[in-house]
Amino acid sequence: MLLSEKQITQLKRRVRETPHPREMILDVLHAIQDANGWVSDEGVELAAIILGLSPLQVEEVATFYDKIYRRPVGRKVIHICDSICCWSRGSEALMQRLQQLLGIAAGETTIDGMFTLLPTCCLGACADAPALRIGKTLYGKVAIEQLEAILDGERTEVSS
Ligand code: FES
Repeated sequence: MLLSEKQITQLKRRVRETPHPREMILDVLHAIQDANGWVSDEGVELAAIILGLSPLQVEEVATFYDKIYRRPVGRKVIHICDSICCWSRGSEALMQRLQQLLGIAAGETTIDGMFTLLPTCCLGACADAPALRIGKTLYGKVAIEQLEAILDGERTEVSS
């Protein structure tokens, strides 16, 4: 069950109250992702049913928006910004160090399933470049020396 009957009913009600169901695509996809960790093909089909749209219309948004995961990911997803401000302030070095610390390449998930590492476009925190986001937490002005402590803190949060 990708969503409970209650969740589906609530989402359908919100879709009915929205001028156009397309406005609710991300909300529905996020609900499915929050409940399952990612959005499978079945998740796209369920979203289409809830929205009254075709699976293709939903898929177009799901694959465009890089915060919707169409493949399984770790418990925490590290989005490291590689847009211009962050790139010019050392995001490449951060990415290299993260790959080293986690033992994975960009796009991969650690063996313990804890972290997935993804490059991403601007996080809207250019003034605090270089920036990265883990789950819902945004980290700005990140120095290489801080990375281990950041990862440790994120691990602790999961285990507590
Ligand atoms: S360029 Fe990295 S947050 Fe905007």
